[in-house]
Amino acid sequence: MRTLSVSNPVSLARRSVLTLADLSRAEIRGTLDLAKELKRDYAPFAHALQQRAIVLLFEKPSLRTRVSLEVGIAKLGGTCVYLDHQASPIGQRETIADYGRNLERWADALIGRVLQHATLTELHRWTKVPIVNALCEAHHPCQILADALTLEEHGLDLSSMRLAWLGDGNNVCHSLMQLTAIFGGQMVVVTPDDCRPASAWMTRTSELALATGARIEYTNDISRIAGADAVYTDAWISMGQSDSASKRAAMLPYQVNEAAMQLAGKDALFMHCLPAPRGEEVLDAVMDSPASVAFDQAENRMHAQNALLLQLLGVR
Ligand code: CP
Ligand code: NVA
Repeated sequence: MRTLSVSNPVSLARRSVLTLADLSRAEIRGTLDLAKELKRDYAPFAHALQQRAIVLLFEKPSLRTRVSLEVGIAKLGGTCVYLDHQASPIGQRETIADYGRNLERWADALIGRVLQHATLTELHRWTKVPIVNALCEAHHPCQILADALTLEEHGLDLSSMRLAWLGDGNNVCHSLMQLTAIFGGQMVVVTPDDCRPASAWMTRTSELALATGARIEYTNDISRIAGADAVYTDAWISMGQSDSASKRAAMLPYQVNEAAMQLAGKDALFMHCLPAPRGEEVLDAVMDSPASVAFDQAENRMHAQNALLLQLLGVR
């Protein structure tokens, strides 16, 4: 059994990434720099994961995460096995501990998209190979590594940028809060009062921000997005959440439409992790506008995840 070690000064090898805060600022910096190197040219890395196998365990649907991992691992010469757990959640046929202790005999890393964060912590507890969170109800660190890369590619400095989150204070929001706190940037999280981020993750973000001077504000006042470098939104109803007419009605004033982007300012980027049910949290006029970097974010999933994997597997 093992515990999570945050910011091992020597290397990322054999570590797990269950939340973004399992990585230090220097480690994220290293991952982003390696991702940029990969994006320029995969040729020097074509055999980097030869003889390595990575297992994907998915309890929820996916387009971007699955394809970017499968294609990305192939580009590095590795083998990828996809286990579809949408019909039978992990832990149903045998304990999570036994499941992980089998998989680690063949696989060099396990990447899980799970219904409950606790499934990942249990896998981490019982296995020696790295566990990577590919989305749970509370976090989406792989997404945010790609987003950090995208923000830098568009000229923003993670330590001084001002981000605006609009909509539901969900898993993607929690990981973005951690990125901002780790790098010392600014973020305004604008949500209906009932849809604020989970208090545990607001507390953790405050702890991280203490060390860096990051400023994170939680409000229901949409006018606070003025002057944002980027406006980020996500589905009003995430996978696994219960849908309700009352939640949708509460969210409507926080829709990212042309008026919201004007409020943010003429140079603000628009960000979305996708998939986007168009006409809900974002309108076509914004999603398909020059301000939108949503498809850059999707592309960067592969480069950021590949960089992380190379480090966790001790190749770099
Ligand atoms: N953004 C993201 O994680 O997309 P998928 O759900 O399609 O993997
Ligand atoms: N918040 C969304 C993200 C999807 C990539 C969800 O969890 O469904």
